[in-house]
Amino acid sequence: MKKPRLVVLTGAGMSAESGISTFRDSGGLWDKYPVMEVASHEGFVRNPALIHEFYNTRRRELVNARPNAGHTGLKELEQWYDVDIITQNVDDLHERAGSLKVLHLHGELMKVRSMKHPERVYTLGPDNLSTSVDTRDSYGDPVRPHIVFFQEAVPNIEPAIELVEKADVLVIIGTSMAVYPAAGLVNYARRGIPVYYIDPNPAPVPDGVTVLRTTATQGVKELIDILRP
Ligand code: OAD
Repeated sequence: MKKPRLVVLTGAGMSAESGISTFRDSGGLWDKYPVMEVASHEGFVRNPALIHEFYNTRRRELVNARPNAGHTGLKELEQWYDVDIITQNVDDLHERAGSLKVLHLHGELMKVRSMKHPERVYTLGPDNLSTSVDTRDSYGDPVRPHIVFFQEAVPNIEPAIELVEKADVLVIIGTSMAVYPAAGLVNYARRGIPVYYIDPNPAPVPDGVTVLRTTATQGVKELIDILRP
């Protein structure tokens, strides 16, 4: 029998319990770094060295982090559901938890790409985490973080919309729903499907969404109790 389709949209709160900072909570990354300097297209043009350094630091944090019980719980749900994860996170913790289908909306921290040929994407290894304005690929071309900066298009939004449109159940975890187009995805869910939102400090959401006002690890545990057949 075909498994029902479960689509999960995750944000920074998903990885908070793995020790990765969120962005907009107090003490979050955008309190410590000026977002338009380190995460915008204009910032990259103005001071690419700063941006390389910012993402080098993020990578060093990530290699020391581990998937939490929320990430592994979503993997567990694959027993009963055809699970697609759409993540705003640039970390690789869903993949490391074993999730089979992960679509990254905002890029991937462990990857860089050629600035001349953007289709040339390279995965960095644990011994090779740092890049700079002088880093070249094997063709001699400079590389940049494989991150969607503010002011840049979100190439994976179309496939993400298609996934949400086909969902039988939609789950949103750990996002302030402040950044578009990701925050608009919920509007593509078919009318009447169950929608759950796990966040200890949830943003306002449309009527009919079941809010679990708790952390990702606890919320996914509760979700499994609700969703397991
Ligand atoms: P935010 O930092 O805006 O929101 C984090 C959310 O996680 C908030 O709603 C918190 O309440 C919630 N949260 C905190 N701790 C949690 C926990 N333990 N369990 C569950 N939830 C928790 O992060 P995003 O919404 O992901 O983009 O931000 C969206 C985008 O803005 C990011 O992808 C990033 C950023 O600028 C880029 O860098 C391109």
